[in-house]
Amino acid sequence: MNLSKLFSDLLGAGYGWTAKTPDQLLSLRKTSEKFRPLDRFFGLGLSVSTDQLLADGLTSGLIAELGNPAPFAVSSDAAGGYLIHDHWPPRPENAAEYVHLGPESFYVAREIQKHAEAFSEKTVLDLGCGSGILSFFASTSSTRVIGIDSSSRATTFARDTAAARGIQNIEFIHARIGSDAADAVVGSDFDLAAFNPPLGVPSGEDTRPHRDGGKLGIEVPLLFLDFAKRHLKPGGEAWFICGNPIVGGKPLFLAELKFRTEWELLESRCLDPYFNQSVARKHGYAEQSITRIELLLIKTRRR
Ligand SMILES: C[S@@+](CC[C@H](N)C(=O)[O-])C[C@H]1O[C@@H](n2cnc3c(N)ncnc32)[C@H](O)[C@@H]1O
Repeated sequence: MNLSKLFSDLLGAGYGWTAKTPDQLLSLRKTSEKFRPLDRFFGLGLSVSTDQLLADGLTSGLIAELGNPAPFAVSSDAAGGYLIHDHWPPRPENAAEYVHLGPESFYVAREIQKHAEAFSEKTVLDLGCGSGILSFFASTSSTRVIGIDSSSRATTFARDTAAARGIQNIEFIHARIGSDAADAVVGSDFDLAAFNPPLGVPSGEDTRPHRDGGKLGIEVPLLFLDFAKRHLKPGGEAWFICGNPIVGGKPLFLAELKFRTEWELLESRCLDPYFNQSVARKHGYAEQSITRIELLLIKTRRR
């Protein structure tokens, strides 16, 4: 599907997007008088009947373009803009080419929004950009933002969102952090890096590339941090969330961070002392002797 065409067709047909709440789904409405939420279509990827869509005033051409169910969802960011992703509901068949947007995305996004002055006139890297949410939040005050993701679907969706929202100071690059190619495509003088890395704890054969953080759930976050070191100027900052697995009473992410003496820890805030404790795949914890995982928001400065 050509998302840019779809969005321009919808805008041309008089549709707009209205935010309900910062991290909830959007409704699509044609006019304020004739309000018909299309959450079932755009928000949750559930089926709606063609008759219902025709009654909304969508043309049969547009309906054909959308497909049913729609392969993506639209959510609002806090500024009322929309973000295209395919997280709700998660589709296992998209695991390697996923466009992520989760509740935890908003931890970092809101931190950027709250401290917009820190991003003012700055150049920013968004590592593992997914839907581009962090890029979009940063772009309101930054000079230039580059989002990088190993999912080409994610960078395509994010580019289409930027085009449809008319945002020009963001670039989305398809590359895998950890590969030489990713290092080659960005310079080494950025002011800030922001990321919400994959931080799930893998278990046996059950791999989920878009969410797994490698060994103990910290391998990929550390890979992102090392990438940030190579691409930030001295004094540049990395803002991110990460899991801090407690093994034998020791907090392992923070221990790893201490080894990386090139970073000065500015802030470490615990957002959840029992992250993911209630969800499935906890067996991965037992396999790696993890008693619990703290979700941390970290700000650190490159010396
Ligand atoms: C938890 S999601 C976060 C997405 C987005 N930043 C957000 O906050 O909603 C992690 C993202 O990292 C991407 N990713 C995983 N491994 C990567 C790698 N080695 N290089 C670049 N992106 C990667 C995934 O495709 C996914 O989009």
